[in-house]
Amino acid sequence: MEPRDLEKIIEKALSRERYCHSLGVKKVSQKLASHYGEDEKKAEVAGLLHDYGKKHSPEELLEIALDMKIEISPIEKENPDLLHGPLGALLVKKDLGIEDKDIIEAIRFHTTGKASMGKLACLVFLADYIEENRSYPGVEEIREAAFQDLEEALLLALDQTIRYVLDRGLLLHSDSVDFRNYILSGRDKIFKKGS
Ligand SMILES: [Fe+2]
Ligand SMILES: [Fe+2]
Repeated sequence: MEPRDLEKIIEKALSRERYCHSLGVKKVSQKLASHYGEDEKKAEVAGLLHDYGKKHSPEELLEIALDMKIEISPIEKENPDLLHGPLGALLVKKDLGIEDKDIIEAIRFHTTGKASMGKLACLVFLADYIEENRSYPGVEEIREAAFQDLEEALLLALDQTIRYVLDRGLLLHSDSVDFRNYILSGRDKIFKKGS
């Protein structure tokens, strides 16, 4: 399916605001892919579909996960919105026939990140933070770093989220911690700068 057809599906499935966000993530995912030598079309599709799971409310996501007998972690049980990544990845396969492993990985882990996830998934993860509709303190710094130093940008984004979670006394997903440790300990080795 072409990105244009998928856009129509996303427009119908999501709220106006989330549709605009998805278009923003698609756009910057493609730019990042072009900058870092990744497949631009895959980046567009993954960016556009990353929040497909949000067509369901958190309560529905929990119900679907139970129906599909998907393992639900205690943190997902507490915060079922987190399921929109893993369930979204299953639903784009089931509903839209998306099979590409890189796209599926990008959708699945776009909320928490995951240690050793591939470059395309990292680009979409980052695009979710910096797309043009996002405005929060520090976004410009991450936007700038995104096209200069991918690891630095990922760390800035992760630190921002982890700080937010800690400041509010919320549960912190271990995948985000593992992802941060993975990037930090492999600094300068995971992605060659500018390539
Ligand atoms: Fe999301
Ligand atoms: Fe998103």
